Amino acid sequence: MKFEHTKMDLPPRPALLDFHGVSMTNYFIDNWKNIQEFEARPDDVVIASYPKAGNTWVSYILDLLYFSQTSPGRQYSVPLFERVPFLEIHMPGYPSGVDELNRFASSPRIIKTHLPVQFLPPSFWKQNTKIIYVARNPKDTAVSYFHFDRMNQAQPEPGDWNSYFQRFMEGKMVFGSWYEHVKGWWEEKKARSNILYLFYEDLIEDFDRELSRLCSFLGQSPSAELKKQITEKVLFDNMKHNKLVNASSDEYLDFTISPFIRKGKVGDWRNMFSAKQDEEFNEHYKSKMQTTDLHFRTAL
Ligand code: A3P
Repeated sequence: MKFEHTKMDLPPRPALLDFHGVSMTNYFIDNWKNIQEFEARPDDVVIASYPKAGNTWVSYILDLLYFSQTSPGRQYSVPLFERVPFLEIHMPGYPSGVDELNRFASSPRIIKTHLPVQFLPPSFWKQNTKIIYVARNPKDTAVSYFHFDRMNQAQPEPGDWNSYFQRFMEGKMVFGSWYEHVKGWWEEKKARSNILYLFYEDLIEDFDRELSRLCSFLGQSPSAELKKQITEKVLFDNMKHNKLVNASSDEYLDFTISPFIRKGKVGDWRNMFSAKQDEEFNEHYKSKMQTTDLHFRTAL
């Protein structure tokens, strides 16, 4: 990865655009034809999520699961965002996600995406690619996303928390409505056996159980020793201080505003939501989720 920008000449923050009914920025739609024509391979593994649901965490788990024994050097020399390319990204100064993936020689390719289900390139469905969807409760997602947008020059201006909170409920966020995203993938999962739906809260509650579910879905039988190593390496504090996974080399991120791997908690929303916002959000959530059997936990 070669950076062509310094902090001084980063492009201005992008505007939020309506793209087929989903709010996006040009960084994720400029390469649309190549994204839609992307050719999946049968052994690809996709990690899909709405932003801030724990995609980086699961990416690192999978990278260690597949490569820590066969290519041990990779985790000490290559940043995670190069080991697990971001399919739809297309930003000045970076190779596009599609180009990176097309160049990838090692197998399986582990692919990150935030695309809502209706935008996933069709070849993933044709190849019956294994897809892990990670979902997180909307209150913690909104707070995490707010801090991320504050520190990320590649995202639209977040404004203050009160206005952000309203826009989150309206779905005026990059990658659209949280509600539509989690519900869309949930319905798709019911119809397809190649999707595993994971919850951030479950990973926090019982990591061993969720790691076993993940491995059995992927048809992997790691040794007890490898499982132990993975568990240790992906602990929140270890990831937070690991320069190759904490995005510290990303020039668009301003770590003086917020860390990328920030708190890693269930329930941090309580530090941002006022009592009135909580009430308003609960009402809104009820109306948006009344027709689904998908449930989230905002506390453990
Ligand atoms: P917070 O901002 O609430 O701390 P994504 O990778 O999809 O952008 O998700 C980011 C969120 O996952 C952040 O949440 C981040 O701290 C959290 N996260 C990353 N690694 C984690 C880990 N090992 N354990 C728990 N949470 C983690």
